[in-house]
Amino acid sequence: MSHLSADLLERAKDLVALYPEPRSALIPLCHLAQEQDGWLHPEAMSEIADLVGVTAAEVRGTATFYDMLHTEPVGTYVVSVCTNIACLLGGAQELLDHAESTLGVRAGGTTPDGVFTLEESECLADCDRTPCVQVNHRYVGGQTSESFDQLVADLRSGSLADTVPHHGTLIRVRRSVGLEADKETIVSERAAMAAAQATRAAEAAEAAKAAEAAKAAEAAEPPKPSGGPA
Ligand code: FES
Repeated sequence: MSHLSADLLERAKDLVALYPEPRSALIPLCHLAQEQDGWLHPEAMSEIADLVGVTAAEVRGTATFYDMLHTEPVGTYVVSVCTNIACLLGGAQELLDHAESTLGVRAGGTTPDGVFTLEESECLADCDRTPCVQVNHRYVGGQTSESFDQLVADLRSGSLADTVPHHGTLIRVRRSVGLEADKETIVSERAAMAAAQATRAAEAAEAAKAAEAAKAAEAAEPPKPSGGPA
């Protein structure tokens, strides 16, 4: 039985069809699975592996490389506090200490009710609004202790639901144009690519053979006579 919902599975197959090589859809599919669960469930990773023709270990290896992909359960809201240099100078450590105290978890932890995961981040590329905070990868501006507590209250009450969806949702509007897979074009492009690869491989093999023959001919040449007596 599929771990991904029928709708997601359909979308996953459409995504795979967009790429000349199925494995190129690996990361988009990870985001898709994360949209369903908020994190990458092992069964989802196995399913993705089957869909793109790699091993589950390769999916995990890719997912663990990227901060935006989670291989362990996270809260509904992942709160990221940047502690890189500009934010550190702007009070990030104090804000992180305060966030830990407000949420009752250390950085890296999830609140017992599963609503918040707090994480310490490297630069989030919003260095002019320090200390920078993101929730589910949405910028929420530089925060003070007071504004942070208000942010937590607003997230809990659902009043920010319009701007901060549950973790795993990258976009809420599905593209209806511009990414339609024209299956015939894809098939012919794949065939052209395979033919080009075969031509390159044949040329390389030919060149290697010629180099080998030249080397053998050079080795077989009789030694040149040495010069006459001085
Ligand atoms: S240093 Fe914090 S956003 Fe760049």
